Amino acid sequence: MGKLAFALDVKGLETAKNILEEIKGYKIIIKVGYVLFIQGGVSFLEYIKSRGFEIFLDLKLHDIPNTVYNGVVSASKIGVDYLTIHSLGGEEMLKRAVEGKGENLKLLAVSILTSHSENYLDYIGSKYSLEELTLKLSKTAVECGVDGIVSSSYEVKKLKKEIDKDFISVVPGIRLSRDSKDDQQRVATPREAILNGADIIVIGRPILNSIDRKNTIEKILKEIEEAVNGTN
Ligand code: C5P
Repeated sequence: MGKLAFALDVKGLETAKNILEEIKGYKIIIKVGYVLFIQGGVSFLEYIKSRGFEIFLDLKLHDIPNTVYNGVVSASKIGVDYLTIHSLGGEEMLKRAVEGKGENLKLLAVSILTSHSENYLDYIGSKYSLEELTLKLSKTAVECGVDGIVSSSYEVKKLKKEIDKDFISVVPGIRLSRDSKDDQQRVATPREAILNGADIIVIGRPILNSIDRKNTIEKILKEIEEAVNGTN
């Protein structure tokens, strides 16, 4: 597939809208988290749509199945294209979420957040390693009918190999060169991520902090296109 999702991780709506104006016209997905969604609500999402972008609403839902079902139905009604949920919410929650998604919304499951270390496994009483648990949760989510999985570039190959059903692979932790990392532990370039099997790459700060955002987006889109074509 080969798409770019721009993580619009800014604190205020004004800044967010200015950036969207600056970059409108590109065929990219805008990832909005709860920081902006709490401030701007549905009208902010409508603003994003009106500028021609697809919406990736990153709320990482995790609640009782019925509440998540109702949340997914609401997101689907307001035209969200991609919505995240936590696979740790359990099979019943995942299945109900899938029931609620309707025709156009794509559900993406997150497994274990990359900020967690082995200590977390102790905390939740897991007998699995981080890698095993990530695979187990991702597999279950795809079997329950979610459309995609969020994972690091390093996990993609394994997930695509071990999970029989097709799914959209969404990969954050991307840097344009290997030497810039911000707070990401392990990073991959757009090309590496696509070659590993990523379908959508999520990039925030390398675009946000660049002097010429349009030029940076163009470079990334070109790198994605070349990597996708190279794999055909
Ligand atoms: O600025 P940066 O490119 O690191 O942004 C990556 C985006 O992807 C952020 O919105 C971050 O919350 C999200 N993300 C991540 N790692 C995960 C899951 C999501 O960096 N495992």
